[in-house]
Amino acid sequence: MTKQTIELEQQAFHNFLPRSEGEGKTEQDVLVEKNGLSSLVPGKKCINASAFTPTEVSRIVDLRSDTVTQPTALMRAAMAEALVADDILGSDPTAALLQERTAKMFGKEAGLFVPSGTMGNLIAVLVHCEVRGSEVILGSESHIHYYEQGGISTLGGVYSHVVPNESDGTMDLRKVETAIRPDDDHFASTRLICIENTHNRCGGRCISVEYTDKMGKLAKSYNIKFHIDGARIFNAAVALGVSVERLCQAADSVSICLSKGLGAPVGSVLVGSHEFITKAKRLRKALGGGMRQLGVVCAPGLVCLDHMVQRLDCDHRNARLLAEGLNKMAGLRVDLNSVDTNIVFIDVGSESSLGVEEISEALKRKGVLVMMMDRTRIRLVTHYHITEDDALRVLTCFKACCLHPVFLQLSVY
Ligand SMILES: Cc1ncc(COP(=O)(O)O)c(C=O)c1O
Repeated sequence: MTKQTIELEQQAFHNFLPRSEGEGKTEQDVLVEKNGLSSLVPGKKCINASAFTPTEVSRIVDLRSDTVTQPTALMRAAMAEALVADDILGSDPTAALLQERTAKMFGKEAGLFVPSGTMGNLIAVLVHCEVRGSEVILGSESHIHYYEQGGISTLGGVYSHVVPNESDGTMDLRKVETAIRPDDDHFASTRLICIENTHNRCGGRCISVEYTDKMGKLAKSYNIKFHIDGARIFNAAVALGVSVERLCQAADSVSICLSKGLGAPVGSVLVGSHEFITKAKRLRKALGGGMRQLGVVCAPGLVCLDHMVQRLDCDHRNARLLAEGLNKMAGLRVDLNSVDTNIVFIDVGSESSLGVEEISEALKRKGVLVMMMDRTRIRLVTHYHITEDDALRVLTCFKACCLHPVFLQLSVY
């Protein structure tokens, strides 16, 4: 790392470091002042908001999603320094590096940077289902089915065959097998099965290696492709204690988000075979996803792979802290068995003095942002801006809310 890079990183770091007046220097501050940001390589240590959070974010505990994360100082420095070139006329070196490194990590032949997880899934489905009259098997709660505007149908003419998701994010393998169409002129041709890991609408549940292998085997036995929406696949791998390569071994393609828990400002990487990625690249261009000096947005992705994966278990621990605390509160229930990673679903019972909307509003007034899932459920997602202290503060706010609704109208902490 050059002297200039270190100075840039230090400057970026200090611009974005949260500081209240009179606050002392942390051990990390001292390290950074001495050696530059590169000294913050996390190793086993938990790097969290105290190292990276911009001032604006530190005043609010934003648990709506892990997509709210701000790029770290290292990411900003990497963006400023990225080697770039026109990626449509040729190949951007930073994008090429990110794509290559991600593919290698996942044990696949090639990778492609795409602007979003939605585009990654869309391209994957459209490439695997390029023949007209194709059908994809999707979980009823999957992001592709639920939140992606039916883009695979609108833009690709692909028909969805929806199989119910179990509460743990899986689909019953017998139901999936039954959903595979026989070779008959009456039916669309089943060409793809998709699973999601971790499963967002099922509360961040991890899908195991064993299940993934079984699904891959099933798909193969029918000559069907197998795609994983791995928006949060690193959370799953960390929680399960396996490599992403092993976890995704059975899949033909995986879409990996950099802009969720890993904290990059933008982007996903799609990985698969050379043939798959060649087709995916053509389609990305047709969808308006061809980008010129792409390295600027890919550079944070490299920081994600190097520094952000190994700290995800810190988010998982904070999610569990929240879940256990909330589950003890009158009127609130959290299924503790369902908290595998960084997502916590809270059921607000009829015995709660406030409803979901009122609780969310009351928390907002105290600087705690949560996501209302529906009339009875609230979602919290932890990420690298959320410290253990934040989690404890959130519990205090919920407690006050459950016990004394009026308390939250006052500024008491
Ligand atoms: C499981 C899953 N897949 C895909 C996406 C889409 O990602 P993006 O918002 O980058 O399009 C999300 C977004 O939250 C997600 O949770």
